[in-house]
Amino acid sequence: MYSSHGTAPADWSEAALLAQLYDWEHDGFRDDIALYSALGRRTGGSVLELACGTGRILAGLVDDGFHVVGVDRSPDMLERARVRLAHARGAAELVLADMREGVLPGTHGLIVFGLDAFGLVHDPVQQTDTLDRVRAALQGDGVVVLDLVHVGSLADHPHGIPVLQRSGADEEIDANVTKWMVLELHPAAQLIEWRCFYDISWRPGGFRRVTETVEIRTFGRYEIELLLARAGLRVEAMYGDYELGPFQDDSRRMLVVARRHDG
Ligand SMILES: C[S@@+](CC[C@H](N)C(=O)[O-])C[C@H]1O[C@@H](n2cnc3c(N)ncnc32)[C@H](O)[C@@H]1O
Repeated sequence: MYSSHGTAPADWSEAALLAQLYDWEHDGFRDDIALYSALGRRTGGSVLELACGTGRILAGLVDDGFHVVGVDRSPDMLERARVRLAHARGAAELVLADMREGVLPGTHGLIVFGLDAFGLVHDPVQQTDTLDRVRAALQGDGVVVLDLVHVGSLADHPHGIPVLQRSGADEEIDANVTKWMVLELHPAAQLIEWRCFYDISWRPGGFRRVTETVEIRTFGRYEIELLLARAGLRVEAMYGDYELGPFQDDSRRMLVVARRHDG
């Protein structure tokens, strides 16, 4: 079992628990990895993932033989990525950093903003600056992928009330967990707010609620094209799902593949 500083899970910090609960929720989600693997094989070179979290995508790519580099600003998320990648076949490098600042490490064939990662950059100046630095870290024929939420798909979703998202055993922390989520849309600010409540019933006894609010910026397709163009990147393709279906009104995702103008 993964152990956070050698203490019992009931005594973990909120950040360590949230990192573990991220995996409880997402470990089974692998729908996006085949796409990144196929693009990475096409471009060659290494793969950089920004806001890599606990290494879910990186682990899939390392298994496929890629050299990967992951950047994240959360020590707890990165620590889990380190444990996950410790026995990987390929090479993996993890960097503790804010993706909105500083020079990005290395030069890569593929740069990935997986599962809403670019939406974590809210400020337009930081968005263009981040994309400038992405362009600088791409090899000539490299591509960047932005996996963005498509707000159109949330129109029918209940707003402002708790919705049961997942419930079940979490063997790693010896608990039963129920996750509730309240969705609020802020169209004028182009923000989606997810308030998440994790109710943890420890099997030996006891209860703890851990909460987290995540705010994700949404983008229109032409806005993202303009942002990329400003950074010297042109959109090569836009898809509505990981099977490369067309981007349309009811698409759940807006998957943007872009390359350097001069690439
Ligand atoms: C939703 S997770 C994404 C994880 C991963 N991309 C995946 O698909 O499983 C969000 C991650 O973004 C990280 N993050 C948020 N803002 C960041 C920033 N400015 N720079 C680096 N990492 C950031 C958080 O620490 C967290 O690990």
